Amino acid sequence: MQPKRHTMRIPLGKGNDAQTLVLEYDPLAVYAPTAYSSVLLVRNIDVQPDDVALDLGTGSGVYAVGIALRGARRVVAVDIHESALETAQHNAELNDVSARIQFRRGSMFDPIGDDEKFSLIVSNPPCLPDPGDIDLMIPGTIMLSGPDGAHHATVLLEQGPAHLLPEGRIVFVYPSTSNPRKIFGLLDQHYEYDILAEIDIPFYLHFLELWDYLRDLKAQDISEFHEKAGVPYRTYWLIEARPKP
Ligand SMILES: C[S@@+](CC[C@H](N)C(=O)[O-])C[C@H]1O[C@@H](n2cnc3c(N)ncnc32)[C@H](O)[C@@H]1O
Repeated sequence: MQPKRHTMRIPLGKGNDAQTLVLEYDPLAVYAPTAYSSVLLVRNIDVQPDDVALDLGTGSGVYAVGIALRGARRVVAVDIHESALETAQHNAELNDVSARIQFRRGSMFDPIGDDEKFSLIVSNPPCLPDPGDIDLMIPGTIMLSGPDGAHHATVLLEQGPAHLLPEGRIVFVYPSTSNPRKIFGLLDQHYEYDILAEIDIPFYLHFLELWDYLRDLKAQDISEFHEKAGVPYRTYWLIEARPKP
């Protein structure tokens, strides 16, 4: 398949001479990188030269390629969809870092060996609450994550510690619409964590389509959002978490 080549150029540093991450992708085949999640993490993450990283749900490869460009020694990138892995592999080649990234197909930690450990796990997990009766197109179909939207982040936080080296950390983005009490409950219980950034973004596309359902979840304290000038906004957090000793 010859993908439609949308191209995005993300400066990784702040100055005019900053290194640029170049991504090509077909937005009808993979999750197109977004400012509030993909860019938020890849521009703010601190990468160490000896980092061995795992990217869960790589999509276009934005995190895997960005982290490799910023000097990580080795990256394993996982996605459940073949189209994402093909796109991410293409982007690794485009940015000349394919020798340091391994691509694996499967669900979350399934393609990771029991004794494989990483110094850094990154993820922008699927987080769309699933009412169960809605017909969505990409990116909706690849973002569904159980009735409250928290399924994949729960797997990340429950299974992550078994795959972290001592001092290892999980860095992920998460929205307030997807049972944040559950996710922050897990963080409070098992991790020491910092919120590195917090931004508010208006609902768009599927979040508008799910507005009614999200209102129901909000009434049950399972979803959080607020309105400004009649427009619903959700909060996105960039979180760095280390398992409690
Ligand atoms: C929100 S997108 C994030 C993509 C990319 N990391 C970014 O930030 O632009 C979530 C990604 O997770 C993938 N995905 C969905 N279910 C998955 C699963 N069970 N295991 C691994 N990846 C999954 C989707 O195909 C999609 O590429």
